Amino acid sequence: MTIPADLFEAACAARANAHSRYSGFRVGAAIRLASGEVFGGCNVENASYGATICAERGAIMSAVAACGAIEIAEVLVLSEANPPWPPCGMCRQVIAEFAAPECVVWCVNDSGEGSKRPFAEFFPQSFDASAL
Ligand code: THU
Repeated sequence: MTIPADLFEAACAARANAHSRYSGFRVGAAIRLASGEVFGGCNVENASYGATICAERGAIMSAVAACGAIEIAEVLVLSEANPPWPPCGMCRQVIAEFAAPECVVWCVNDSGEGSKRPFAEFFPQSFDASAL
């Protein structure tokens, strides 16, 4: 499994701007839309800790702001952790809002370690628009 270089580079570039003064953990993310466009994001922490935004949600908000209706084909999460971090629960819920049925998630770190799994494995029985 070859980590997609364009997603890795977008996540890396966004992570350089991480605002992580409270946890010290720098996280980058990148998403590929069904249209092919790629958007990056980084974690943005807050003195009121609960107001922190994860890298994945940052990437998704940028994509919606730029494109409106989006469909996410691929997500990459870049952490400094070993094993690489998966998306948190809140990010899984937000990914579910926009995920293509075949959406896949890469969890990678700087050492090039990583794995790819279908998003549906991360978030089975999701509560999404189809439930309403
Ligand atoms: N974080 C992310 O950016 N994405 C995740 O999926 C997990 C956690 C961030 C939030 C916080 O700034 C730091 O990592 C530690 O939790």
